[in-house]
Amino acid sequence: MTDLSKTPADATATGHPMVRAENVHKSYGAVHVLKGIDLEVRQGEVFCLIGPSGSGKSTFLRCINHLEKVNAGRLWVDGELVGYQQKGDKLHELKDREVAVKRRDIGMVFQRFNLFPHMTAVENVMEAPVQVKGESKAVARERAMSLLERVGLADKARNYPSQLSGGQQQRVAIARALAMKPKLMLFDEPTSALDPELVGDVLDVMRGLAEEGMTMVVVTHEMGFAREVGDALVFMDGGVVVESGNPREVLTDPQHERTRAFLSKVL
Ligand SMILES: Nc1ncnc2c1ncn2[C@@H]1O[C@H](COP(=O)(O)OP(=O)(O)O)[C@@H](O)[C@H]1O
Ligand SMILES: [Mg+2]
Repeated sequence: MTDLSKTPADATATGHPMVRAENVHKSYGAVHVLKGIDLEVRQGEVFCLIGPSGSGKSTFLRCINHLEKVNAGRLWVDGELVGYQQKGDKLHELKDREVAVKRRDIGMVFQRFNLFPHMTAVENVMEAPVQVKGESKAVARERAMSLLERVGLADKARNYPSQLSGGQQQRVAIARALAMKPKLMLFDEPTSALDPELVGDVLDVMRGLAEEGMTMVVVTHEMGFAREVGDALVFMDGGVVVESGNPREVLTDPQHERTRAFLSKVL
């Protein structure tokens, strides 16, 4: 029976934890960057991460994506401890090759688009499915074309990155990440490097993904996006979670002085 009491937003975000961090610490040499992060991202949720430069947002995303090893605490993605495999009651550290396999399930979009400059848009989107998953070129091309259509760039499939605007390149980068059928998408300031008039198209693509139920962790300075699309918001500063909650509530009525000070600068 359908539960009519649920709003659509609830219906997409009632899943199991897709990311769970428990007292996560990360240092680079003597620099203690993450100082005990606790948070949970549920399946289907749009989880926004905000905070000043240097607060550890990118580092945390890199830990989720197995690009960095945490020094202490625990981090799970989709129920599995990042970097380890449980056999019986023992934990075994994964080999690099095994880590790479896990990373395939997580799409990442960076501030800079990092497209292959010598490949067209459609070739960029096809590359990983063909090279990493061994998909046939025909199948990969067809899927790549439908992904480009989804991000509004079907007519740019044969263009090279240098022939595309920053916003278009970023949408190709999103299509490229989606081509691997990720269960989780990480966005690290995806619109920060764009001219203001190009930001909206990228945010629209992200909003569409959210509506389709994709689990997304989004580091952003776009407070409008966080307020409208976000299911949860965390304010980080100095490697700790200062405040978290419903984006509408945190943004309009922050409880901590540090959150207020930050928001007064960006809003
Ligand atoms: N590979 C690295 N080696 C040494 N220090 C790093 C490295 N990556 C990040 N840091 C440091 O960690 C801190 C947090 O960086 P980062 O996670 O990029 O913050 P944010 O994304 O919130 O701006 C900064 O002080 C930065 O200099
Ligand atoms: Mg960063």
